[in-house]
Amino acid sequence: MTTISQVAAETDGTYGAVGLPPVPEGAVMLTVHIQRYNPELDELPHTESYRVPALPGDRLLNVLHYIKWYIDGTLTFRRSCAHGVCGSDAMRINGRNRLCCKVLVKDLIGMTIVAAFLEELLFRGILFRFVEEFAGTWAALIATSGLFGLAHITNANATWTSSIAIMVEAGMLLGGAYVLARNLWVPMGLHAAWNFTQGFVFDVPVSGNDMHGLVQAKLSGPVLLSGGAFGLEASMIGVVLSIPLGLILIWLAGRRGRLVQPRWKANAD
Ligand code: FES
Repeated sequence: MTTISQVAAETDGTYGAVGLPPVPEGAVMLTVHIQRYNPELDELPHTESYRVPALPGDRLLNVLHYIKWYIDGTLTFRRSCAHGVCGSDAMRINGRNRLCCKVLVKDLIGMTIVAAFLEELLFRGILFRFVEEFAGTWAALIATSGLFGLAHITNANATWTSSIAIMVEAGMLLGGAYVLARNLWVPMGLHAAWNFTQGFVFDVPVSGNDMHGLVQAKLSGPVLLSGGAFGLEASMIGVVLSIPLGLILIWLAGRRGRLVQPRWKANAD
């Protein structure tokens, strides 16, 4: 199975080894991490990384061809029509199931930001409001936090610890921000800012996806403090900081009368 766990772009223009085709003008350098597994040779799946020059309008399928033709001929993947019809090149790309021939390089650069908007739309915009209407704000916070954490258990480098940490952080901070503002743009902005700053500025993995930021960083120390390969979301520091901050947001929401009672309690009153 081929899983592309992360693709990041940079523009250093230093590529160009002997035997490789010339780098086109305007190309960016991608670092492509591919999860590979050959049951006849490998005990476990492992990740291999490749640096590939590509134009923003190139399809990811072209990038895989480049790797196979010029860097590592052992790479194998399915493709057929190359035009988004047959579905044979379906892969997990940056945590989402996509057709490799339909993903453009430029799409990948903003994928974590788009993911933040989509996740907030689903978890705070739809699920939270649905649960809150019947069971009240606290039940909605608990339910959406739990589901949010579970939704990340299949991410690259995820563990139960990382999912529980995300439950607390997202539930308290993003849920609290929504309850206080009653405006979906606030948790969307917070979420996108978190992903962007962590990944594209500080070079720290975002929800298990390896990133390439403005600085070159390397997490070290106990996994419980650093979050390990999953990133800072799995760190106890993130959890401990998010609890009081989230409680303040929820407390402020309560003072402004923005907490909703369960329907049965409201009816009884
Ligand atoms: S190769 Fe046929 S859908 Fe992508």
